[in-house]
Amino acid sequence: MTKALIVYGTRYGATEMTATEIADVFQKEGLDVNVVNLKNGKVKDISDYDLVVVGSGIKIKKWTKEPEKFLSKFQKELQNKKTALFICCGANYPLDEKADVETEIEYARTNHLEAKAAKYNLTPISYGLFGGVYNFNRMGWFFKKTLSAIKPQLEEAGVPQPEPGLYDTRDINKIRDWATELAQKANA
Ligand SMILES: Cc1cc2nc3c(=O)[nH]c(=O)nc-3n(C[C@H](O)[C@H](O)[C@H](O)COP(=O)(O)O)c2cc1C
Repeated sequence: MTKALIVYGTRYGATEMTATEIADVFQKEGLDVNVVNLKNGKVKDISDYDLVVVGSGIKIKKWTKEPEKFLSKFQKELQNKKTALFICCGANYPLDEKADVETEIEYARTNHLEAKAAKYNLTPISYGLFGGVYNFNRMGWFFKKTLSAIKPQLEEAGVPQPEPGLYDTRDINKIRDWATELAQKANA
């Protein structure tokens, strides 16, 4: 049985929900899967895994620090395994109305995925670029205050709100399709 490890770092919850959704798909595709939030859980050894998926949310153009540390720590071993990187970010839903979505996505792919792989000499079999959440329940006072201005915009656009104050711009089907294809590549 193909063994997969999914590790991630999240600030507002999108990457966590995404990691869980990827894990569900992996299970349905017959993979043995372990999911670790690197903020609470430690990974000591990755030798058992055939596929390692590393995910992070993006804030002010930066990954969370835990998955970055993971890539650094296991860099050598990861070079000899199937890997995949994914991010949850705001590129699909830029806050600046003048911003062009295609340009934002291209920027995120180049800087937050391809550059990250290059930094650790990895050749991932897949990159996942997903939307994020605007989670006012987890924001500090400063961003809560400044970003409150976009609430009407999110409401008007009909962005789903699975719980009050949490706006989810992710496309679940895109995540599931990506995970299905990745599981099939891992099993090949
Ligand atoms: C304060 C703040 C800064 C952000 N900065 C960026 C950014 O620089 N680039 C981007 O693409 N998305 C940005 N976003 C959108 C986040 O990527 C989105 O909230 C995502 O859900 C974060 O992942 P997480 O929920 O797993 O923490 C930002 C969001 C917030 C609240």
